[in-house]
Order: sequence, then C-alpha cells, then structure tokens
Amino acid sequence: MMFCNSLNRNDFGPRLAVFASGNGSNAQRLAEFFHADGSATISVIYSNKPDAYVLERARLLGIPSMIFDRHTFYDTDVLLRDLRSRSIDWIILAGFLWLMPPYLLEAYKGRIVNIHPALLPKYGGKGMYGMKVHEAVIAAGEPESGISIHLVNEHYDEGQVIFQARCAVEPHDTPESLAQKIHALEYEYYPQVVKDLVKGRP
Ligand code: GAR
Repeated sequence: MMFCNSLNRNDFGPRLAVFASGNGSNAQRLAEFFHADGSATISVIYSNKPDAYVLERARLLGIPSMIFDRHTFYDTDVLLRDLRSRSIDWIILAGFLWLMPPYLLEAYKGRIVNIHPALLPKYGGKGMYGMKVHEAVIAAGEPESGISIHLVNEHYDEGQVIFQARCAVEPHDTPESLAQKIHALEYEYYPQVVKDLVKGRP
C-alpha cells in the first residue's frame, strides 16, 4: 500500500471519496467541479491499480490518494479506518471496477454512488465496463445509449437508478465515438447529480 498526501485546497460541505481504477477523467471533472462550486469536497482518491492514470491526476490536483490491493480491500478494515480518519461522508465511484465489500456497503448504506456508461438495466453486470459496454451496444444495433447514475448495492450495477441521460447511436458510430458521446454526458451530469444527492435531494 502507498499513501501520497498533499494539501487539499478546498474543504467545505460533505466530504467525498472517489474510487477509480483507470484513466480518471470523471474523477478529475468531479474534483474541478467541486473545487469551483464549493458545495462539497473531493477529499481523497482511492485506486486498486498502482499504474492508473487517475493517481497522476490526483497528484496534479493536489488531492490525497491511496492505493490498495485486493486483500486490503476485501479482508481488512484498513480502508474503512482511512475513510473514517478523513471523515468521509459519501463514496463516489468513477470507473471503479471491483464490487464493493459488505463492510463498506454497511458503513456507507445509501451513500455509495456509481456511474455506468449505458442505460441500465441493459448492458450492466459483471464484466460490463468501459469500452466493453460500448462494443456490446453497437453490436446489438441499439438506436440509443446513455448514462445511468445509481446507488450501489451488493450486485454489479443493480442499485436504485437515480438519473439517466440518453444519446443517439448513429449508424456510423464506433465504440470509440460512442465512448466520446457518453463521456460528454458523464462530464455534464455526474457532478451536478452528485451535488444534489449529497445535499439530500436525489
Ligand atoms: C466511464 O465511462 C464510466 O462510466 C465507466 O468507466 C469509464 C471511466 O472513465 N464505468 C464503468 O464502466 C463501471 N461499470 P474515466 O476513468 O475516464 O472516468
């Protein structure tokens, strides 16, 4: 495990932890939104991938980050103690690919949020993430796709959906072009939906 700490420039409102496994463009968008908006604070970014670009983004944003492995995540209380030591109120998943363990679901009941790059309940579940989702949507000839923001429970992508936005899938769309459209929707809506949710207005 590795800790990287630095000053958090913006410390108001509910304290949010972002979990991300990869690139982290949504994590950055959330951090920049709340830094400007001031209604909440992204207090820490956690990742299960030591080489995830999201960790470089955290460093550049001046947000503390922490890496954990599977054993630490599922079999110890290290993460829960870290969350508590930072007084984290909500957990926001942004491209995080592991199932939340029961102890976190219990400690943060109704306060873990995920974004999924399709219109759930379609194209969700284990193994459905990132480009795999867009490839499946295109292969099925769907006329539309979109984003789903939902509460997290013990199953992949099955918690209560609190927001969806849609986009057309055109005949010329590729998984890559669809991913761009979906990311644009995510950047537009995820911060605002999280803002409303953590204020208690789902
Ligand atoms: C996002 O499109 C997010 O919806 C998706 O991973 C991407 C992460 O992009 N999440 C899932 O597929 C979860 N099942 P980012 O790392 O650039 O934010």
